[in-house]
Amino acid sequence: MSSALPHTNFIWGALIPEVYLDKVSKKYRIGRREVAAIDGVTLQLPESGIVIISGPSGAGKSTLIRIIAGLETPTSGSVYVEGVDLTRLGAYELAWFRRKKFGFKPQDPKLIPHLTILENVAVPLMFNFVERERALSIAKKLIEEVNLRERIDHKPEEISGGEYERVSLAQTIIGSPPIVILDEPTAHLDPDNSKRIADLIKMKQKESNSLYIVTTLDYSIIQEADRVVSIYKGKIIEC
Ligand SMILES: Nc1ncnc2c1ncn2[C@@H]1O[C@H](COP(=O)(O)OP(=O)(O)OP(=O)(O)O)[C@@H](O)[C@H]1O
Ligand SMILES: [Mg+2]
Repeated sequence: MSSALPHTNFIWGALIPEVYLDKVSKKYRIGRREVAAIDGVTLQLPESGIVIISGPSGAGKSTLIRIIAGLETPTSGSVYVEGVDLTRLGAYELAWFRRKKFGFKPQDPKLIPHLTILENVAVPLMFNFVERERALSIAKKLIEEVNLRERIDHKPEEISGGEYERVSLAQTIIGSPPIVILDEPTAHLDPDNSKRIADLIKMKQKESNSLYIVTTLDYSIIQEADRVVSIYKGKIIEC
């Protein structure tokens, strides 16, 4: 881990990184066996750029980013985002904080089946109290940017795997959240579609100057990274 604070925020007179994990562990009990999915991880991330979380299957990548996004509570340790310790927030505060700060695409994203692609992409804005017509108009522009104009009125079951990933990406980054977290955005895609997603990630991150945290083993995305964090058996092995 680098010793200097990379990019930092200045809040309440103290320099703090955008994301700071302090000795975080997550243990699961399966019968009598205990699995340490995350094992004593201390990590700080800058306020902007593309950070890749890499490592073999089962290493703890998804668990780590779910903890950063406040979707999973660590067994021990603290998770600071902009200086706020997520582990100390109540359910309501955490939900509010997550809605304002994060865009999160899970490993297996699920669009809402009875809504159109346009409505699906607009949903996060509506949850943030953006008026419906305005949300739809912003979503339409973004869908055009991800090259899916002709799919706008389709339902999720009527689009291909590559298109589904692009729609999920658009849904995650709409409204330019300060922290975008993408779990395996190209896992099931061919090289052409993977490259398209990698280019989109690069373009949208540059545009918003926000922090993108991406789990992947895909070289087309890794080569765009400002930093690669490698994880193995729940521990960080290099940054
Ligand atoms: N809910 C759970 N209950 C029990 N064990 C879990 C749970 N979630 C994850 N694990 C275990 O924690 C470890 C890390 O899982 P995780 O999903 O974070 O890995 P990953 O690096 O994302 O793997 P992949 O590349 O296959 O997605 C694995 O051994 C997994 O079996
Ligand atoms: Mg995973």
